[in-house]
Amino acid sequence: MITAATQLIVDDPENGVFRVHRSAMTSPQIFEAERDLVFDHCWLYLGHESEIGAPGDFVRRSVAGRPLIFVRSAKTGQIRAFHNTCPHRGATVCRVDSGNTKVFQCFYHAWSFNTDGRLVGVPDRQGYGPALRVEEMGLQPVAGMESYRGFVFVTFDKYAEHLVDYLAGARDYLDLIIDESESGWEIIKGSHQYSIDANWKLLVENSIDGYHAVPTHDTYMKYLSSMGICVAGGISGRGRALGHGHAVMEYVAPWGRPIAKWEKQFGESTRLEIERLRARLVELYGAERAERMADHNRNLLIYPNLIVNDIQSVTVRTFMPTAVDHMEVNGWHLAPRAEIPQARALRLESFLSFLGPGGLATPDDIEALESCQDGFRSGGVEWNDISRGMTREPEATDEEQMRAFWRRWREQVSPQREVVA
Ligand code: FES
Ligand SMILES: [Fe+2]
Repeated sequence: MITAATQLIVDDPENGVFRVHRSAMTSPQIFEAERDLVFDHCWLYLGHESEIGAPGDFVRRSVAGRPLIFVRSAKTGQIRAFHNTCPHRGATVCRVDSGNTKVFQCFYHAWSFNTDGRLVGVPDRQGYGPALRVEEMGLQPVAGMESYRGFVFVTFDKYAEHLVDYLAGARDYLDLIIDESESGWEIIKGSHQYSIDANWKLLVENSIDGYHAVPTHDTYMKYLSSMGICVAGGISGRGRALGHGHAVMEYVAPWGRPIAKWEKQFGESTRLEIERLRARLVELYGAERAERMADHNRNLLIYPNLIVNDIQSVTVRTFMPTAVDHMEVNGWHLAPRAEIPQARALRLESFLSFLGPGGLATPDDIEALESCQDGFRSGGVEWNDISRGMTREPEATDEEQMRAFWRRWREQVSPQREVVA
């Protein structure tokens, strides 16, 4: 039995040992502790500015189990994030996924609020005495909302550091992705929504796990081979800790990406444009950075639960735990605003057929994660081993990325010392 969160992780670089106790994935007490100690203090991804491009545009989101409204003011065009709960008696005020409005009206007693959150309508107002202070009864903004180059985050901790500091070394990788497009980026309408019966931290690990790519995604590898693409070398590159729990694996892989590196499976009709894009990146950023942008894949973790995959397409994915062994996953597709239709088609195809919940990769990953969670129930083994690459310069197929996550997780969860497994 483990009695302290600090004992959930064995981190011994000298001997190349890193282990995580499986109760970190199975204990309901640890799950409860994470809500307060992790999710109520970090910056969490809310959405992309392009999702609410016009004044009055809104989407509703659930972040760390809290219903929120992400809206662009119909008056000023400013973006805002509000708690989606009526200051009257609690009902969720916004009950549709997205739209454009000047006013949100609560369905329960019909109080209404403008897109700046102000209470602007109370039926039978005279029923209240002067104590009803309209200016204090608006929608409540979240404690913090900040944006980094179009990516909007919220925090429920009013003492949180600024987002730009929180992002630490992950900023450079976001820049690298965002700079790939001169026309800016937009989230393509629609999203993938699915759930996994596994602890949320297993998807963190899986999203930055190069070691599993070839064996787990065997079907995809065979598919690539059948198209004449050589998969023998697997992936190669490196894994990095980026500070504050963020991490990345950056690598070259047998599959292609429709950003400035032409591959024969893209077809001749795309060749000229993709080569032109590459020349432009070289002009703008120099040969070395252009090569990283165009040739390298990136799986970026922004602690604790945002993944930006710059691979066959650019996926923005969050996952929210609802129980120790269950999470809800949302995946969005980010694309350059201006690109040739063939490149857009390639991206959409990859987003669906590789990364989608029914695609060539995601079902494999879900199967692997649920199988781990099931394996934990068997007992008999207490620890997961996450030591790969600990005694060398970490490669993309090593586990340094995961250790970065776990070290930060331990810092946050360790004040909760009396966690009983
Ligand atoms: S709960 Fe919203 S108006 Fe009453
Ligand atoms: Fe995978």
